[in-house]
Amino acid sequence: MTSAPKAAPQTAPQTTLETILRARHSCRAYRQAPVAPTLIEQAVATAARAPSWCNAQPWQLLITRQPETARLAKALHAHAQSAQMQPDLPWPESYSGPYKARRFDYGMQLYDAAAIARDDKEARTAQMLENFRFFGAPHMALITSPRELGAYGALDCGGFVTAFCAALTEAGLGSIPQAAPAGYAPFLRAWFGLPEERLILCTIAFGYSDTSAPINSFRTPRAAPDNLIDWR
Ligand SMILES: Cc1cc2nc3c(=O)[nH]c(=O)nc-3n(C[C@H](O)[C@H](O)[C@H](O)COP(=O)(O)O)c2cc1C
Repeated sequence: MTSAPKAAPQTAPQTTLETILRARHSCRAYRQAPVAPTLIEQAVATAARAPSWCNAQPWQLLITRQPETARLAKALHAHAQSAQMQPDLPWPESYSGPYKARRFDYGMQLYDAAAIARDDKEARTAQMLENFRFFGAPHMALITSPRELGAYGALDCGGFVTAFCAALTEAGLGSIPQAAPAGYAPFLRAWFGLPEERLILCTIAFGYSDTSAPINSFRTPRAAPDNLIDWR
């Protein structure tokens, strides 16, 4: 059941949040060591402090451990070679203007870090397919939201996902939110026996980062506040 937490002390160092958010990045190579369940539960409890409309807390997590993560990764990776994507939430229609440019730049950073040439389609496809192996992470969290809450349930879950990744960073863990596996929503729904009324939003692969892996070496830039704020 729920428990009302005590108010956090107002004297918490102001730099803590910034330090954690700046340290967090998408991790795409992992060590095999499992994460202690208590550490995972602590990160979930921290992330669950995220706000949600009416405090509905629509997020539910399905978390895998080994050998289940590897069993799912093998089956999903094989499935992704031939099946059509069918996400519960429609994929973005397009990326234009600054979104297109940022997406392109991120792709260049990723393939440069992986030493994949621009015209090497085979290597790019193989790297993309690593999504379905959860980049070798020992754990995967599948995030679902009640269908009846629609876009606002997904909005609430987005906040939870960010907070969860931040909490995992604080615990010394690597993580990556992934939309790609949610593209095979019917497969995941059948695999886990999830009802139609749970929308499959994304997965989060997590575990101890392989910090020596070149693919974990790049950091993505962010637009400055001037580009984000429209003062009135
Ligand atoms: C909702 C969401 C879905 C994402 N899906 C994927 C994905 O399918 N595959 C992937 O490699 N990265 C995915 N990412 C990670 C983004 O590429 C990454 O957050 C972005 O490039 C910024 O880099 P950073 O996380 O290292 O700061 C996703 C991130 C979010 C928030």
